[in-house]
Amino acid sequence: MEVLLHENADGASVVAGKIVARLVRQKPNAVLGLATGSTPLGLYRELIRLHQDEGLDFSQVTTFNLDEYIGVDGNHPCSYRRFMMENLFSGLNIPESQIHIPDGLASDIPAHCEAYEEAIQVAGGIDLQVLGIGSDGHLGFNEPTSSLASRTRIKTLTKETREDNARFFERPEDVPHHCITMGMGTILDSRVCLMLAFGENKASAVAQAVEGPVSAMIPASALQLHPHVHVLLDEGAARKLTRKDYYEHVYDNKPAWQQY
Ligand code: PGA
Repeated sequence: MEVLLHENADGASVVAGKIVARLVRQKPNAVLGLATGSTPLGLYRELIRLHQDEGLDFSQVTTFNLDEYIGVDGNHPCSYRRFMMENLFSGLNIPESQIHIPDGLASDIPAHCEAYEEAIQVAGGIDLQVLGIGSDGHLGFNEPTSSLASRTRIKTLTKETREDNARFFERPEDVPHHCITMGMGTILDSRVCLMLAFGENKASAVAQAVEGPVSAMIPASALQLHPHVHVLLDEGAARKLTRKDYYEHVYDNKPAWQQY
């Protein structure tokens, strides 16, 4: 696991943009796994800048989003489909047929989840998965005690996650109880994981995910089992790490070919 410490979210987002851009330049038909929430917004702004100012071409890229609320129409202001359209896809040149987001209104949810997994396979698997982390340690909507081998399925949100996400809804009671999320097994199958975390309210979850034991109680800790993970943090999110000196030492002594 590579832990990269930055002063602020903007600096981390620029480096995250470089990691994604390098992949898209090397493999123009890359398959990206994408996340919603406040955390990836800086990265998405950076990708739009790279596309518009530097001509980074996304026309052959395929995307799969991590999750979606159940019972929320894709045009609803709080749907993750709408979020992605407004915050990323409207600024890039990815054909809509190459964009995949779970359908929160699917009539047969298990069949939809199975088809989502199949579509990922048909696309060749996810090359790079962008991840945030919940204050309860979730990845996607894989809440604590999620099977670390789980696949795309329905999940029930924790009270903590519903409270964290209430800021996006008109009334707290409007936050759905259910979602469709890629599973931990789905995420761990990605070739590269890029986890971003900003702000002090993530510090405890980050410390447990990076330095704690692997446990379904902190699903993000399963990233310790993945061979290629970048973790990009701002000062607040890094506050509770005990090995910060080492991560800084690693960064300062990277061989040239590993630098960003
Ligand atoms: P946030 O959510 O980016 O809005 O903090 C992250 C998550 O819950 O995974």
